[in-house]
Amino acid sequence: MSNSTLSGSRPITLCVNGHNRTAKAEPRVNLADFLRHELGLTGTHVGCEHGVCGACTVQIDGHSARSCLMLAVQAQGMQIRTIEGLADKQGRWHPVQQAFKELHALQCGFCTPGVLMSVVELLESHADPSEEQIRDVLSGHLCRCTGYQNIVRAVQHAAAAIRASHEHE
Ligand code: FES
Ligand code: FES
Repeated sequence: MSNSTLSGSRPITLCVNGHNRTAKAEPRVNLADFLRHELGLTGTHVGCEHGVCGACTVQIDGHSARSCLMLAVQAQGMQIRTIEGLADKQGRWHPVQQAFKELHALQCGFCTPGVLMSVVELLESHADPSEEQIRDVLSGHLCRCTGYQNIVRAVQHAAAAIRASHEHE
């Protein structure tokens, strides 16, 4: 009997950042660990592992969600977007990534991938979010470096940059 049969691991296929990816998943492995250890997508960070810190946030079928709270096998066939999928096909950063760099919204960077995934979802549904809406989204993320002020400014800056780019289209 093979090891995979003994452990119950089985292949699952997810569409990650637009590409179908197949790898074996143990039944008890969460999606965050699967992305990091089986698919090598280490941009998604794991902090608390019980849904509190937001570091592991990815987009699942278009909505940001904690990847530590979902088993990898439950994500079979789903669309997953991670921080590695934010840059465009030419490798240019997403406007939110650019704004975080320019406005010093990065400190140690541990919380940043999760924050970005939530912020991108916000800006895709609200082109001009209020500060209150931005802070509401950020309230789902613990930043141990406590740089929230610059994060809010960076989100406002990114929103303005995206609106300006649409005006020039
Ligand atoms: S690691 Fe998932 S919410 Fe903290
Ligand atoms: S930038 Fe360090 S935890 Fe947020």
